[in-house]
Amino acid sequence: MKKRILTGITTTGTPHIGNYLGAIKPALELAKNYDESFYFLADYHAIIKNSKNIEVSESVKNVALAWLASGLNPNKSFFYRQSDIPEILELSWILNCVTAKGLMNRSHAYKSATSLNTDDEDKGITMGLFSYPVLMAADILMFNATHVPVGADQIQHIEMTRDIAGRFNHLYKKTFILPEAIIQSSKETVPGIDGQKMSKSYGNIIPLLSSEKQLKTSIAKIITNSLEPGDPKDHSNCTVFALYKYFASKQMIEELKDDYINGIGWGDAKNKLFEIVNKDIEPVRKRYEELLNDKDLINDLLSDGAKKVRPIAKEMIDSIRSSIGINKIS
Ligand code: TRP
Repeated sequence: MKKRILTGITTTGTPHIGNYLGAIKPALELAKNYDESFYFLADYHAIIKNSKNIEVSESVKNVALAWLASGLNPNKSFFYRQSDIPEILELSWILNCVTAKGLMNRSHAYKSATSLNTDDEDKGITMGLFSYPVLMAADILMFNATHVPVGADQIQHIEMTRDIAGRFNHLYKKTFILPEAIIQSSKETVPGIDGQKMSKSYGNIIPLLSSEKQLKTSIAKIITNSLEPGDPKDHSNCTVFALYKYFASKQMIEELKDDYINGIGWGDAKNKLFEIVNKDIEPVRKRYEELLNDKDLINDLLSDGAKKVRPIAKEMIDSIRSSIGINKIS
């Protein structure tokens, strides 16, 4: 059996260094160990929580650019937009019809949303949010992915996918492979400029797709203590050092540790961080600018992706339709 990984990228916001280190890089790295890899822009997931059309479309563009610029090779991987494959939505409905409502009631995402409500527990909750795990199951089962790289917060969704797949296989014909989750453990969460987890909602990000100057400014804003140059410093509780570790070799890390003991000034330490981050993301920036300069390129890449993937989806949905009795009248 072919080992096929598939992962969806919800198109919200603009990727930052934390996404790059914690999600993009490891997901792209994984492709090397599998026969086939599928990466898609989950734009129908994006409208669950965002009704601002401009934000949704900007974000699809930025997320697509970030993944491509970070090295996603559309000749080696399948790269497509969820909304370009309407069969996924068709499958989503079919799966809705075999999914127990009770299973969805137990979804963490739904429960945490209801727990914020007092009088009416379903206040502000849409059917999109409620049945979102079914759409995610359709994303995965459409292509019979064997392995699904996800963050730890998504494990429950993969379990639900297996449940739904098993239910379909039992009711109809054995159609779906039960996928396994590959947990992308962000062992240490990447800190933002204030030392908390890097996240758009905390306003502490270092953007991935930025000019050299912007990168320098972001790094200069990292909060440190007020020790003077010459004062010995503690590397273990320092955001500059924590970020440096993601990019540097073992030897360079040891050298910076010594620099801290020897009282390196914060300006110099931040310069070292800037140099190493900049070197790492320089090729990303270059590809990003190339993609940005040629407006048709990104649309062409996505439509090529859809052209490659759609026949696979079509074959699957035809077989599913016939299993459930939606077929030619005989
Ligand atoms: N829900 C996932 C997230 O928020 C994104 C996603 C959508 C996904 N469909 C998927 C991930 C299918 C893996 C497989 O991270």
